[in-house]
Amino acid sequence: MQDALHIPVALDRCIALLSPAIEARSNPVIVDATLGMGGHTKALLLKFPNLKIIALDRDLSAIAIATTNLSELSSRVEIIHAVYDELDEVLSKLGITEVDGILFDLGVSSMQLDQADRGFAYSQDAPLDMRMDQSSGPSALDILNTYSYGELVRVIRNYGEEKFATKIADNIIKARESGTLKTTKDLAELVKNSIPAPARRTGGNPAKRTFQALRIEVNQELAVLERAIPKAIRAIRIGGRLVVMSYQSLEDKIVKRAFTDVIGSNSPLGLPFDLPNSAASYKLIISGSEGASDSEIEVNARAQSMRLRALERVAA
Ligand SMILES: C[S@@+](CC[C@H](N)C(=O)[O-])C[C@H]1O[C@@H](n2cnc3c(N)ncnc32)[C@H](O)[C@@H]1O
Repeated sequence: MQDALHIPVALDRCIALLSPAIEARSNPVIVDATLGMGGHTKALLLKFPNLKIIALDRDLSAIAIATTNLSELSSRVEIIHAVYDELDEVLSKLGITEVDGILFDLGVSSMQLDQADRGFAYSQDAPLDMRMDQSSGPSALDILNTYSYGELVRVIRNYGEEKFATKIADNIIKARESGTLKTTKDLAELVKNSIPAPARRTGGNPAKRTFQALRIEVNQELAVLERAIPKAIRAIRIGGRLVVMSYQSLEDKIVKRAFTDVIGSNSPLGLPFDLPNSAASYKLIISGSEGASDSEIEVNARAQSMRLRALERVAA
């Protein structure tokens, strides 16, 4: 049932981008850094009968669902509970030095949003948890109860790009003192009441930005991504490909910067000419970024904010 509810984003495009790297090898191995319910992994395994996939997810319930969804393909997929910035350690434990491709489909899954008790959705009342890995780390409520006013402003402003961060933080401190902030509904109501009425009428639900900010902070999403992308870039072999889908601009900026860093020449900065053998080791396979097609967005609202970037290693 979970499978039917979930449509993998840009599935055909991801397969097409990874295909040349997979087809060039007799025993290809790729990493799905964000297994989720296994939609992309399953389609790739079915398309390429010789492919093996190492699949990571930090969420134990995603792993349980994907393990069931992939049971018939289990001999070709190694499912590992890990945060994707542990990619290098995961590969070295498996004795693998380089892979043919890596796929990142960032953010939360529709399953995580649909499980009301996880606290990701402002539309459903639940405890303020928001941890992708419920086995470790502080919850959103821990953050709301312990961060200083200044730290709350920083999180809500930087990660939610929220104009009214100071008012929201102020009201969080007051609600904390009166013990009235416990659930997602309490927080959604608090945010609504912190925003002037005219601003509430535009830009969708006003709680969206604060929920995004807290989720990023709880899961340290941006810091983890900043560490992970350079590791993924280093882990692909010559001819290997890295494909990343992000769903908000802060993530996409990190991916763009990491890609830009490696596609330039290897000559030291400031030299007016390129040194011999200093051509870049990586090239973009998509110039800039791509979004989903209108027809995909029509059937899968989640695809609307997606930005896709892809890179190939062309030299050592
Ligand atoms: C958008 S879903 C992936 C959906 C998947 N491509 C599919 O077709 O089913 C993102 C998944 O990545 C996981 N995830 C997010 N951040 C992660 C991280 N830093 N390390 C490992 N997994 C992460 C989430 O738990 C979630 O299951």
